[in-house]
Amino acid sequence: MKMKKFLIIPFIVLLIFGIEAKTSPEEDLTDFRNHFKELFPNTPFSDFANGVYSIDKSSREQWESIEDFPPYEINIENGEELFNEPFKNGNKYASCFENGGIGIRQNYPYFDENKNKIITLELAINNCRKKNNEKPLNYYKGGDMADISAYMAYTSRGNIINIEIPNNMEALDAYEAGKRLYFTKKGQLNFSCADCHVWKSGTKLRADITSPGIGHPTHFPVYRSVAGRLVTLHERYAGCLNRIRAKPYKGQSAEYRNLEYFMTFMSNGLEINGPGSRK
Ligand code: HEC
Repeated sequence: MKMKKFLIIPFIVLLIFGIEAKTSPEEDLTDFRNHFKELFPNTPFSDFANGVYSIDKSSREQWESIEDFPPYEINIENGEELFNEPFKNGNKYASCFENGGIGIRQNYPYFDENKNKIITLELAINNCRKKNNEKPLNYYKGGDMADISAYMAYTSRGNIINIEIPNNMEALDAYEAGKRLYFTKKGQLNFSCADCHVWKSGTKLRADITSPGIGHPTHFPVYRSVAGRLVTLHERYAGCLNRIRAKPYKGQSAEYRNLEYFMTFMSNGLEINGPGSRK
């Protein structure tokens, strides 16, 4: 009964206002993949996990030689130590996560049906701390949060992202909100994420070539040589919003979590290969 109402109401809205019918997440995913397949016919699907290096041969070689001696190695080591260090109450992070937190990066973010919100890995890390009476870690500027996230990503390398969106209005709403943010023009420069990472992906923007929007979350957190430290996915979002002179949101705000949900769903089928390194 409930389902019927959900189907009928949008249909009536559609009839009255002539609003375009919503596409399902699965249809969006097919369209998104096909777009990049057509735009970059020489890039094998699995290579989109490598961001801009999947489409730019000239910068790829240099990047590959950096990855031979990864600048984030020390962060993984520190992350592992922090991850295994007991809290003051004697519990460890492992107690909060499925499989003791090992090899599970690909399951985030997910829609939590009890809390009715999207839970990202970084939010789950802080929720674990809170549950154990520890102070939350900072989401920006690298530090312990980025190191723990890097370690957890590292233990998940090779695992395939397969975000499932439950058939639940709130979960679909979160997905739609993330998608809307991705396609909405913002800031003084009036650009959307999609303008640069979908429609103009592969074109040169000053010194940078804009990466494909497919495969972004696979390799975060990322060690950025310009920053000389790890950067989380949400800090990267803030960087792109600053670039177009739009006001960034807070780390782990509903806006960014929903955005991450949409972007990760669009990366289904790709391998976790984080942490990564970038300019
Ligand atoms: C004006 C163009 C522009 C807009 C708009 C823009 N970006 Fe970017 N973005 C870039 C450039 C240039 C880079 C650096 C090169 C690259 O794509 O890896 C980048 C990098 C990124 C990266 C890191 C890629 C990686 O592999 O490490 C992510 C993630 C990202 N953007 C997400 C977003 C999101 C989400 C939005 C919308 C909130 C957005 N961007 C808006 C130009 C843009």
